[in-house]
Amino acid sequence: MNALRIGMVGLGTVGTSVWKNLRSQGELLAARCGKALRIEKVSEKNRERARLAGVPEAQMVDDWRELVRDPSLDVVVELIGGTGVAAELIRESLSHGKDVVTANKALLAEQGRELTAFAAERGKRLLFEASVAGGIPLLLALREGLIANEILSLHGIINGTCNYLLSAMTSRALSFQEALREAKELGYAEADETLDVAGHDTAHKAVILSALAYGFWPALYEVHTEGIQNVDPLDLHFAQELGYRLKLLAILRSHPKSGEIEARVHPTLLRKGHLLSSVRGVFNAVAVRGDVVGETLFYGRGAGGDPTSSAVLSDLASLARRETTAPSMVPSGRQVALTLRPMAEILSRYYVRFLVEDHPGVLAEIARIFAARNISISSVIQPEGHRGQTVPLIILLHQSQEADVQEACRIIETLPTVKRPAILLRVEDLDGEEGRSS
Ligand SMILES: NC(=O)c1ccc[n+]([C@@H]2O[C@H](COP(=O)([O-])OP(=O)(O)OC[C@H]3O[C@@H](n4cnc5c(N)ncnc54)[C@H](OP(=O)(O)O)[C@@H]3O)[C@@H](O)[C@H]2O)c1
Repeated sequence: MNALRIGMVGLGTVGTSVWKNLRSQGELLAARCGKALRIEKVSEKNRERARLAGVPEAQMVDDWRELVRDPSLDVVVELIGGTGVAAELIRESLSHGKDVVTANKALLAEQGRELTAFAAERGKRLLFEASVAGGIPLLLALREGLIANEILSLHGIINGTCNYLLSAMTSRALSFQEALREAKELGYAEADETLDVAGHDTAHKAVILSALAYGFWPALYEVHTEGIQNVDPLDLHFAQELGYRLKLLAILRSHPKSGEIEARVHPTLLRKGHLLSSVRGVFNAVAVRGDVVGETLFYGRGAGGDPTSSAVLSDLASLARRETTAPSMVPSGRQVALTLRPMAEILSRYYVRFLVEDHPGVLAEIARIFAARNISISSVIQPEGHRGQTVPLIILLHQSQEADVQEACRIIETLPTVKRPAILLRVEDLDGEEGRSS
């Protein structure tokens, strides 16, 4: 049986699992692909790590440059991470006639358009199933399974660390810091948690999903990104009372008439009845709505060596089978003529919490300011207090424009009875998605 000859650079968490699982699943994959998948060469900075993983000395290459120039290799797997050397490595590999598989979401979010164009110009493939939602075959589903659909919207819980933290804060009333400490002890959060909790990792994946869903690579800096580091347990409590749960979501939505795409990342209230809201712990889930299929839901482990290696092996299998040599949706670097809808123009429902002095007429004054901008209130919670004391006032708003809500809040914050800046959270009504796109 002939073989797909693979060179792999980086044998850390994901690389070690790819090495291990290709050993255990090698026969199965060969039978299914009609070709053996063989890792011929490995380059890993830390040789001892490679040795411990069982890589024979004869297969180790000190310098990745030597590996990517090896004419006997068909494909290079980049698993070192980062955006500097990794970009150079991918370009060099493609220039030397290799296909490339990567899990590097940070790099793709930054340079995906250029790198996919670079690959297409050379007639090579750059595959990255493992870059979003770990083991869930989401990119394959967007590229192939949903090919007959216009993607109307996509809502994704695609950062396991954030979902773990929000789940722990909701179910056990932990503070953000308590939940973070626990997540670090369990290995669910990095020593430096910023990339995850500030929403950047989710934004990286939102950019990649936009490329797959719409053929459009938004500029990362233009994707509105809010994290969960300032989430107050008080809002989780009131959200529960109102029948919602808070999730960090990547949201994409198309507006075909205006040629715009929404791409944003922020904590979002979801109705408790919706399946996405019951996704707990480190799991990922993505709801994709297509115009033909309706709503679909993908669920599974979004990170970790084994789930991520499953996605890397899927890309390798697709190269072994020589499937779709001409990329069917994006990854060609082609930029479709779409624009990103400015955040100020999005329509959403909102949860707003004010801290107000408990006086008669405060609510009426606030309602008047909202009404002057055509923003209507759908419900209110105001815990009982004593006259003159400060109390939280929680208001749910019907669908309104972001700019109007922001402006109303800034005006309300100037009232003498309002004591702190408003807490504002967006609410997505997934059951009412029909007819949202325009
Ligand atoms: N871990 C996950 O669950 C997960 C999930 C989805 C996607 N990803 C992506 O997968 C990629 C790899 O992640 P990971 O968690 O496996 O990272 P990791 O554990 O840090 O592994 C990276 C490995 O590459 C080595 N390396 C760095 N530069 C190198 C070079 N120039 N030549 C040879 N080896 C080099 C590192 O060695 P040193 O440690 O000595 O520097 C390390 O052993 C990243 O792009 C990440 O975003 C990871």
